[in-house]
Amino acid sequence: MVDITTAVKDIQDKYKVIGRTEELKQIVLAHSVNKNILIEGEVGVGKTRLAKAIAEYYDTNFYRVDCSEELLPHNLVGYFEPPLVIAKGYIEDSYKNGPLALAMMNGGCLFINEINRMPESTQNSLLTSLDEGILKIPKLKTIIAHKDFFVIATQNPSAHVGVTVLGEALKDRFIWINLDYQRSEEEILIIKQESNLNSGNADKIAALSQQVIQITRENTSIRRGSSIRGAIDLATLINQYGNSNSTKNWVEAAIMALYNKIELEDGLTQSKKEIITNIVLAVLNKSDFQ
Ligand SMILES: Nc1ncnc2c1ncn2[C@@H]1O[C@H](COP(=O)(O)OP(=O)(O)OP(=O)(O)O)[C@@H](O)[C@H]1O
Ligand SMILES: [Mg+2]
Repeated sequence: MVDITTAVKDIQDKYKVIGRTEELKQIVLAHSVNKNILIEGEVGVGKTRLAKAIAEYYDTNFYRVDCSEELLPHNLVGYFEPPLVIAKGYIEDSYKNGPLALAMMNGGCLFINEINRMPESTQNSLLTSLDEGILKIPKLKTIIAHKDFFVIATQNPSAHVGVTVLGEALKDRFIWINLDYQRSEEEILIIKQESNLNSGNADKIAALSQQVIQITRENTSIRRGSSIRGAIDLATLINQYGNSNSTKNWVEAAIMALYNKIELEDGLTQSKKEIITNIVLAVLNKSDFQ
């Protein structure tokens, strides 16, 4: 039996994961009984960060697949190279193993990023590998999964544009771990760490940046608020300006950092730049700025 609390603490320390104690416990628990894990959460909540930390912690091979509508079964499983097949026939040498085949043969983590962007035909090619540990490659071989083969997948909640629904059969084969936004104190620590803030004003820059993105998530004119990446970019830019006491710098940096990370509701009279500017000014006015 692994000591779950110790494992979680180790992961947090080694891979500089801030907080997420409960979620990491769930992941370690699921992994200790060889379950495949699906991490679900909004953009930027730390899905990839956690998945990579887990794979590194278990010190296994890591095979990454980033999904899109164009990801076909052969990109995942593998394919015969036509010129080699002509020269040599359907033999091992002619076959290029994909990440699924490699992870199953060698053992390790198959990391499937944004699995709900995967077309259904590709999803189907995963089914038997996931629950029976078997992958049949016609004309060549049947792979029986190595004992250390496991899958971690991530997905954004299905409300987003450009996302297909993950099939029932595939969902059924995963343990589900949900990530919400972290508490503001934890977000501030993440911002400080990830923006490499080095000035004496690090605490202030991180706290103000967090407040700005927090408001983008609550503002009724904004359909999709900023992830923590917005705050990390904002804090990094402010730090680079060298003067964190300038309102002009804050407004300019916030527009650069947030413009593409937020989505407005339809039919507003204010522009995105105006909305971002007003949020920044409100945050600065409320704080003991300068
Ligand atoms: N708990 C955390 N500790 C440290 N850094 C974190 C944590 N959560 C998120 N981050 C940092 O925040 C940023 C976004 O995280 P990440 O890329 O893992 O999000 P994601 O959920 O995979 O996003 P997407 O949906 O866009 O793929 C990264 O810089 C990451 O290192
Ligand atoms: Mg990610």
